[in-house]
Amino acid sequence: MRKTIIAGNWKMYKTIPEAIELSNGLKRELFKLDKDAIEIVLCPAYTALSEVAEVVLESNIQLGAQDMYWQDEGAFTGEVSPKMLNDIGCAFVIIGHSERRLYFNETNETVNKKVKAALSAGIKPIMCVGETLAQRENNETFKVIDDHILNGLKDINATEALNIVIAYEPVWAIGTGKTATPLQAQEVHQYIRNLLVKVFDRDTADAMRIQYGGSVKPDNIIELMNQPDVDGALVGGASLKIDSFSDLVKKANQVRKK
Ligand code: PGA
Repeated sequence: MRKTIIAGNWKMYKTIPEAIELSNGLKRELFKLDKDAIEIVLCPAYTALSEVAEVVLESNIQLGAQDMYWQDEGAFTGEVSPKMLNDIGCAFVIIGHSERRLYFNETNETVNKKVKAALSAGIKPIMCVGETLAQRENNETFKVIDDHILNGLKDINATEALNIVIAYEPVWAIGTGKTATPLQAQEVHQYIRNLLVKVFDRDTADAMRIQYGGSVKPDNIIELMNQPDVDGALVGGASLKIDSFSDLVKKANQVRKK
C-alpha cells in the first residue's frame, strides 16, 4: 500500500512571522493524524525554512524546500545546495515545478541533475511533470509526460526511485481554479505508472507515489484521492491558510486505499 502524501507548496508567500503562525496552526490542527498513514510536508520559502523546521520538529509534519542547486558548494551566487537543505532538516525538495520551468529556465537536464543530487544527499525529490493547455489541446499530453519522466529520471535505478515522488500538475490547472476532473487526473496518473513500469519494473512502479497538483481544495480532494493511482496532492493556494490546508489533509486522511 502506498502511503498518502500531501505537500503544501507555499511558493513566494509568507514572511517569517506568518510562516511560524501557519505552521504552528497546522501542527495544532493535525497532531492527531498518524504519520504511518499519511505524510504531511510543508514547503516554505528558503527564508522561513529554519523557523518552520523548529516548529515542526518531532511532530508528524515534515519539511521540504521548493528547489535547490545540484552542487554541494561553490561560487554559485543565489543558489542553495543539497548540503544546506540537509543542514536545515529538509526531508523533501520540490524539483522542476512548472513555474521554474516557465520563468527560470529549468529543463529536463537540470531537473535530472537536481533529482540525482537530492537522492545522493538523502533528500526525497518531488519531481513535477505536466502539460500546458496548448499541449493538451494539441493532444500532446502523453508526449510531454514521456519527455518529462524519461529525461527527468535518466540514469536513476529502481532502489533510488523508491525515494522519488512524482507530482502530476497540468499547468492549466495551477492557480486557475480549474482542476482536472478526477478521471482526467487518473488517466494521466495511470499512464505515468505504466511508464514507470517500463523505466523500472512493476514492483517499483507500484510502490512509487504520484501526487496530483493544480487547484486542489478541501472540496475536491476526496474525489481525487478516490482514484486508484492518485496517492496524494501538491497544494499551492489552499496550503496558505490553516483552515483550508488542515481540512484538506484531514479529508485526504479519510480515504483509505486498497
Ligand atoms: P495551486 O498550485 O494549488 O495553487 O493550483 C499547485 C502548485 O503549483 O503546486
